[in-house]
Amino acid sequence: MHYLITGHTGFKGAWLAMWLTQAGHEVSGLSLDPVPGALFEKANVTSLLKHDLRGDIRDLATVQAALSTTQPDVVFHLAAQPLVRESYQDPRGTIETNVIGTMNLLTAVSQTPSIKAHVVITTDKVYKNIDQIWGYREIDPLGGDDPYSASKAMADILTQSWVKSFGGPPTAIARAGNVIGGGDVCKDRLLPDLITAYSKGRTPELRFPNAVRPWQHVLDCLNGYITLSNELLEGRGQGEWNFGPDTDSFVPVGQVASLVADMYGISNQVWTLASDQQPHEANLLSLDARKAELSLNWHNKLNFQEAVRWTVEWHQQLSQGDDAFALASDQISLFGEM
Ligand SMILES: NC(=O)c1ccc[n+]([C@@H]2O[C@H](COP(=O)([O-])OP(=O)(O)OC[C@H]3O[C@@H](n4cnc5c(N)ncnc54)[C@H](O)[C@@H]3O)[C@@H](O)[C@H]2O)c1
Repeated sequence: MHYLITGHTGFKGAWLAMWLTQAGHEVSGLSLDPVPGALFEKANVTSLLKHDLRGDIRDLATVQAALSTTQPDVVFHLAAQPLVRESYQDPRGTIETNVIGTMNLLTAVSQTPSIKAHVVITTDKVYKNIDQIWGYREIDPLGGDDPYSASKAMADILTQSWVKSFGGPPTAIARAGNVIGGGDVCKDRLLPDLITAYSKGRTPELRFPNAVRPWQHVLDCLNGYITLSNELLEGRGQGEWNFGPDTDSFVPVGQVASLVADMYGISNQVWTLASDQQPHEANLLSLDARKAELSLNWHNKLNFQEAVRWTVEWHQQLSQGDDAFALASDQISLFGEM
């Protein structure tokens, strides 16, 4: 099977490319260049790929050319501007990449007969956030108070309406929350910030220490995406799917910091409160993943502590000189055996 991943130079995309090639598949990618220090570069993911294409998904001709060159069987659309804070600084760019970019993908996919399955990646932040303590279900209303959330909700609705209006290959939408794992270098994400601070002996600043987030290992999330694509290839699974962690993984940011600090042997003054004024971020977000559990037989394999441990150990071993690709490959194998 030949997979095209948009966003393959990013955090999830690099892990997905390694997983799929390790499983014996051909993989191509379309993205911008990786950011400095990205897992994609550290693990030399380019060497695994059939086509490593660089281009901007905001340009329809670029996306059409990529699909025409690669002629994939399956498309995973991950490319996005994925950060809430960045979306306040560049709302237009965020909307253009996340909404127009998705429309360009949908257009080009519908013009490429080789494609048998298309999985569009959105997020837990697509749901209209009413600060409920129970998880959001696929049938709940979508919304978005910040530009990033709005852009992903728009991409989600656009995909649903596109399929209803124009058909195309079997298409599904995957919604997942915060994921953690080795090699994430995105700014403003908690685990990379904590690991950088503790490994340098600094005390990290937290913006929202009491905010409860669902924490999930990237491999559990990708396992959902891959399970969904397999379902599409079997002629089932169209529609929207949540792939969130179990409820014991809904943990406040400050508690995550304490666990990571513990792994670095730090016990006092684990964090300080950030003093600068912060833009609004949703306070509580959780996903109800029972639809995927019951219908796809998908389940999280790593609990909260294991997900954090796998992430921190990955970075600790990397800093001791271990090879990034070998570390990822070992975790993918271990995960597959669970
Ligand atoms: N990481 C998380 O916690 C999380 C949570 C929920 C949803 N998501 C979603 O998962 C997907 C992947 O996120 P990630 O964490 O790997 O992000 P990332 O920032 O690591 O990677 C983003 C990828 O998109 C590509 N990209 C960005 N703008 C582009 C453009 N204009 N044209 C072409 N490519 C472009 C980048 O080059 C990169 O390959 C995104 O759709 C994101 O919204 C991520």
